[in-house]
Amino acid sequence: MKEKILAMLRENERGYVSGEEISERLGISRTAVWKHISELRRRGYVVEASTRKGYRIISSPDILYPWEVRPLLKTKIFGKKLVHFTVVDSTNTEAKELAEKGVGEGTVVIAEEQRKGRGRLGRGWHSPKGGIWMSLILRPKIQPHRAMGTTLLSAAAVCEAVMKVTGLGISVKWPNDLLIEGKKVCGILTEMKAETDMVQYIIQGVGLNVNLDEKDLGKISETATSLKLMLGRPVDRKVLLSEILYSMENMYHAYLRGDFHEVMKKWKKWNSTLGKHLTLKQGDREYYGLAVDVTPEGGLILEAPSGERKTFYSGEVTVEK
Ligand code: BTN
Repeated sequence: MKEKILAMLRENERGYVSGEEISERLGISRTAVWKHISELRRRGYVVEASTRKGYRIISSPDILYPWEVRPLLKTKIFGKKLVHFTVVDSTNTEAKELAEKGVGEGTVVIAEEQRKGRGRLGRGWHSPKGGIWMSLILRPKIQPHRAMGTTLLSAAAVCEAVMKVTGLGISVKWPNDLLIEGKKVCGILTEMKAETDMVQYIIQGVGLNVNLDEKDLGKISETATSLKLMLGRPVDRKVLLSEILYSMENMYHAYLRGDFHEVMKKWKKWNSTLGKHLTLKQGDREYYGLAVDVTPEGGLILEAPSGERKTFYSGEVTVEK
């Protein structure tokens, strides 16, 4: 009902819609209309009410409410079920619980703020208001060793969407850190449950610093940035989220169809790792070499100074300047 009332108020953005018209068109009582309007106000919408003219919407809050995002979606399934939290520990943890309960592929968990956001390699992920902190549930019928492909496709999809919406130049550092001018703007945490030969579900957790200011980033501003800081103006998170899900869904279908080379072509075009000398850290072991290629599964092929080549499926890369 909220969605319908908002649509009516927005049809006529500069004018008023009478309570009577809303009540007639939606088949609810005038009291019910009033209750819905009060509910919208509680959620941060500014709605003016005039006894003679009716209601007029003045502004909407910058919150990724499902009823705000849904009308913008161009996807078939991604994000059609959207679970929204104002504050949560971690959207990946929530998504895992939902996946265990059997919710379908394409379900998205999103939060305005995370108290205990999780990053790769057991690190935390700073998630104040203003970002896109989301987790997508996938259920591909694939063997576990192919799961890394979904991480790469998510990175390529976020790149594509950010470039489309903001025009900013953005690059991928293997496997899935997104950087702007060398500073991290997005990280992806892939978690999976699998049997030996079949994946049960994959959670793709995307953390994108959208409208964070310098003070929101705090200490990490030396190595991290946000789209707002790079662009000099805030970005519409609802539009960006819908573009991300659209790119993710298209690339995921290409991946399932066996057209992964199309996705890899994009990943390679936007990557800032291949052709560079770098150090790859795995726990306390370090490997040095030239990044020559990525395998179709997403593994990084490093060529050591001895000429020996080795493929890595995890680790932290530091590119030599
Ligand atoms: C990284 O370390 O680069 C990955 C960071 C992933 C952060 C996202 S934010 C949404 C989702 N929920 C989490 O707890 N983590 C991921």
